[in-house]
Amino acid sequence: MKTKTIKNVKIIKMATPEEISKVVSELFVNKIKAKKDAAFILATGSSPVGVYNNLIKDHQKNKTDWSKVTTFNLDEYVGLEPTHKQSYRKFMNEELFDKLNINKANTHVPNGLGNPEENAKTYEESIVKRENFDLCLLGVGINGHIAFNEPGTEFDGQTSVVPLTESTIQVNYEKYFDNIDEVPKTAISMGIGTILKNSQEIVMIAFGSSKQEAINKLIAGKETKDWPITALLKHNNVSIYTDCEI
Ligand code: GLP
Repeated sequence: MKTKTIKNVKIIKMATPEEISKVVSELFVNKIKAKKDAAFILATGSSPVGVYNNLIKDHQKNKTDWSKVTTFNLDEYVGLEPTHKQSYRKFMNEELFDKLNINKANTHVPNGLGNPEENAKTYEESIVKRENFDLCLLGVGINGHIAFNEPGTEFDGQTSVVPLTESTIQVNYEKYFDNIDEVPKTAISMGIGTILKNSQEIVMIAFGSSKQEAINKLIAGKETKDWPITALLKHNNVSIYTDCEI
């Protein structure tokens, strides 16, 4: 293990995604132990899957009680039914919620159907009303995006409908979709400002060499809209767990 601190961001390098998933899942379990009605901001993508598997195993083995926990997810594609196989609502149900005793009414994923602009506004209002999230889990895109806040996004932005870059569309097509035309071009994303203001603690996970450049930009310690990951330098309680070089 090696650590580095840049402003208030602690970067922890561990050898494998498995070790990282273990440590990060323990952070969540400890939050629930300390506060039954903890509130979390959660991410999708491949990075959190190991964490979610561990949380399910912990729930089965140690009976950690999720019945009072509230969750808000970071983002959702515009135009996909919640039952679509690539919708983030379906991902969260299958990878986590269905296997815990969480009250589904307390799990929130933006609604990408109907009037997305209106839905984004309502989502932002619900987050602000809940405020003080105990822990926010983030992944990072290869271009440094957080949630679906692509390069160029303002660091004080709120939840909104956002365009996806060609690179993100390409990455998500290669990883998840059968046909590039099926990949939505827009999404509802929690704003960077929303995340920074409403999270008491942020934990980011970044696995693999494709995330090295984003980690390097963070280590450089300079806030730049070209790399949304550097917005984390504005927060006072961030840990980044990675297997990249630091
Ligand atoms: C997607 C999600 C992000 C996620 C990122 C990285 O675009 N909207 O929230 O952090 O991709 O995904 P992965 O963990 O699969 O690399």
